[in-house]
Amino acid sequence: MTPNPAFQSLPEELHSPILGRKKPATRVAVLPLRQNGANGIPKVSLKGISLSYKTNDGSQLLALDDINLQVNPGEFLCIVGPSGCGKSTLLHLIAGLQPATSGKVLVDSKTVDGPGTDRILIFQELGLFPWLTVAKNVEFGMKMKGVAKAERREKTEYYLRLVHLSQFKDSYTHQLSGGMRQRVALARALATEPDVLLMDEPFAALDAQTRDLLHDELERIWAETGRTIIFVTHNVREAVRLGDRVVLFTFRPGRIKSEFLIDLPRPRHLEDVTVAKRAGEILDELREEINKSLEEQYGHEAVR
Ligand SMILES: Nc1ncnc2c1ncn2[C@@H]1O[C@H](COP(=O)(O)OP(=O)(O)OP(=O)(O)O)[C@@H](O)[C@H]1O
Ligand SMILES: [Mg+2]
Repeated sequence: MTPNPAFQSLPEELHSPILGRKKPATRVAVLPLRQNGANGIPKVSLKGISLSYKTNDGSQLLALDDINLQVNPGEFLCIVGPSGCGKSTLLHLIAGLQPATSGKVLVDSKTVDGPGTDRILIFQELGLFPWLTVAKNVEFGMKMKGVAKAERREKTEYYLRLVHLSQFKDSYTHQLSGGMRQRVALARALATEPDVLLMDEPFAALDAQTRDLLHDELERIWAETGRTIIFVTHNVREAVRLGDRVVLFTFRPGRIKSEFLIDLPRPRHLEDVTVAKRAGEILDELREEINKSLEEQYGHEAVR
């Protein structure tokens, strides 16, 4: 297997036996973690989460049903499941953008009752501002947070270096490729220094090569910064490539069907036989759920 150059560049002392990954780098002074995981408290806990949406005909649609899940500090957790099983809804709940119908979301044992700077949601539609330069886009979140100007500058430089975009700091987003724009969004999110990154299919719209590169970069940044990542994807191989654990959701209502510990050594690659094999096992279970969703969708249409 070709070694990942990004990993080789990490100092030896960052390698931790826990989950085969690295501890936060001490040299990354701008990245204070609120909890380092030494106290055994989960970073995120979902306790009996259920959520119903009101539909147009006034009935209730149960999107999530009794989700119980704990995410460890510094863990890279991937969530897969058929379309409509509530993956985005779950990230919104953790982000505090909407309340659960029942149950609780806890971050560092504190109940989430709204958005907070300790969590950030990154999704496919990046929400970058086309009238601002790359650097100003990265600064934006910090400005909203009230970070002083000098500190904003310093952190912008640091995070743009982290995503390898320093020389594009004065460019506008339309002058960048899709992958570069995604990296700007990542830098902007990281610059607000959240403990938890909630990523909703962030790479789904990218071509295969760009996605490969971003996998490497995200894995490196995660390893260097010790952030906790909850990553939603439709791509099971991507989940196995990146995750310490993959959680598979059932078709509506979303429930946890299975959990898979991915203890394959890092760095991994999408093409690794071991990655393909693990992904195959998960895909077998996912297919059952996809079939249920197709039956529901097309079964109804056949009756009509
Ligand atoms: N604002 C809303 N009002 C009513 N129903 C909603 C709303 N948002 C989502 N839903 C429904 O809740 C269910 C879960 O939606 P959600 O977007 O969380 O699924 P998902 O797993 O992210 O799907 P996908 O993989 O297609 O992104 C779907 O059936 C969807 O139609
Ligand atoms: Mg979604």
